[in-house]
Amino acid sequence: MKIIHTIAELRAWRKTVGTVAFVPTMGSLHAGHMSLIHAAKAAAEHTVVSIFVNRLQFGQGEDFDRYPRTLENDAALIAEQGGVDVIFAPDEKELYPNVIQQYQVTPPAIAEELCGAFRPGHFRGVATVVTKLFNIVEADIACFGKKDFQQLFVIQSMVKDLNMNIQILPVDTGRAEDGLALSSRNAFLTADQRNEAPRLYHHLSRMKAAIEAGDRDYSKLAVQAVTDLRVRGWHDIDYVDTRNAETLKAASNTDHKLVILIAARIGSTRLIDNIEVNLD
Ligand code: PAJ
Repeated sequence: MKIIHTIAELRAWRKTVGTVAFVPTMGSLHAGHMSLIHAAKAAAEHTVVSIFVNRLQFGQGEDFDRYPRTLENDAALIAEQGGVDVIFAPDEKELYPNVIQQYQVTPPAIAEELCGAFRPGHFRGVATVVTKLFNIVEADIACFGKKDFQQLFVIQSMVKDLNMNIQILPVDTGRAEDGLALSSRNAFLTADQRNEAPRLYHHLSRMKAAIEAGDRDYSKLAVQAVTDLRVRGWHDIDYVDTRNAETLKAASNTDHKLVILIAARIGSTRLIDNIEVNLD
């Protein structure tokens, strides 16, 4: 396994190999990332994992500075699992030689809803860095987690809309035994917050069961979840929303493929999660 820091070296390596599956990450790797890497290894002859904390997708006052940077641990974890050819870990100057990235990829209005409503510019930052990484790695396949459902949606629609020559492979959300979606940000939680955090998944599961049982009053179900979360001390709930899983637009009563999405802060840590509901 090589650790490559420069675009030139990555490109030189790329020229010498066959099919490549790519897993873009911001590091601080956990078992959720590992399932993406596992899927990537099965999907092509070679695997590249990138590790880059992308300033462009963090807003003012967000956790860019405190985001964990653990390259040595990450590399050890990847080496232990085996089968990854390259870790691409550029520094900021390599990917952003100009102070401001001059050309950026602006996603359509749907990226300003849900998380985008609370993190202005976030998905522009994601779409831009992912485009740059795609242009550098020139992979055949890239793996993205369903944990970040709206991100996956933005990337899939970008690839389609801009005719990018890459296949996107969605990977199921990895969870702790109590249901909490694995996330690098879970490292910020105190023991009490960690005990409380699975309540997000608990509510998603309850709402899914209600919908499967025929209750299509999505806003009532959301209000019930928000009310309970508030009682339990969650005061910063960005949204609980049921959407059409294929368009991400507001769900109708006749939709069969739904996704329920949630974002809330516990202490100073913002957590997101979602669950799909397939009524076919
Ligand atoms: P990061 O949060 O490090 O996530 C990297 C990839 O791992 C994403 O595709 C994300 O959806 C996936 N992932 C995270 N937690 C997961 C879990 N519990 N189960 C399954 N997959 C999970 O997402 C980003 O980085 C960045 O926005 C990036 C795409 C790298 C662009 O900077």
